[in-house]
Amino acid sequence: MKNIVILISGRGSNMEALIAARDAGNLPVNIVAVISNRPEAKGLETAAKAGIATHYIDHKAFAGREAFDAALAECIDGFAPDLVVLAGFMRILTEGFVRHYEGRLMNIHPSLLPSFPGLHTHQRALEEGVRIHGCTVHFVTPTLDHGPVIIQAAVPVLDGDDEDSLSARVLRQEHQVYPQAVRWFAEGKLSLEGGRVRLSAELDDSAAFISPVLR
Ligand code: GRF
Repeated sequence: MKNIVILISGRGSNMEALIAARDAGNLPVNIVAVISNRPEAKGLETAAKAGIATHYIDHKAFAGREAFDAALAECIDGFAPDLVVLAGFMRILTEGFVRHYEGRLMNIHPSLLPSFPGLHTHQRALEEGVRIHGCTVHFVTPTLDHGPVIIQAAVPVLDGDDEDSLSARVLRQEHQVYPQAVRWFAEGKLSLEGGRVRLSAELDDSAAFISPVLR
């Protein structure tokens, strides 16, 4: 079984979805540690209750990004993970850190990348008036919220949506696609080769999503 380390900064609902998938027997991984850069991250408590080793490394205690990333990498590498999963980890990572984990560092972002990298994705999607929004799981590259796409889920943007309703709709999909992506990796079906995603799963090409959809 593959070992994974999960990095969080806050609520940790994506982390919980991964723990739940593992507990349901749908995700054959050892979650060897959960690490946060914020001591008050709610997800740390949840992980500890699930019997997972937790650590926090306060980024404010370091002189700069390089020093923080070096300490973070040392902590991660102590667990010898096959995969590092960013689940709401709100830090920009240095190029050296990202290169060190090339092909074994994944992120989830709450938009259909390459649209809306960065913060406030749901508000920006509403302001742009897009009809389809969603989330993306990708391998991490040194560019923020960028990198080879593993899986995406789309949701409709509905009249009357606000940031809360839209983010909740997207989050439900995040909790589906992240365990799926990690599962493919754990099963050896997913890799990064020459900067491209290689996925050897049986996929159904019949789905289309057209928004708005009439009932
Ligand atoms: C999610 O929307 C994720 O896509 C983004 O940050 C949020 C984290 O939520 N990167 P949670 O901590 O997993 O609940």
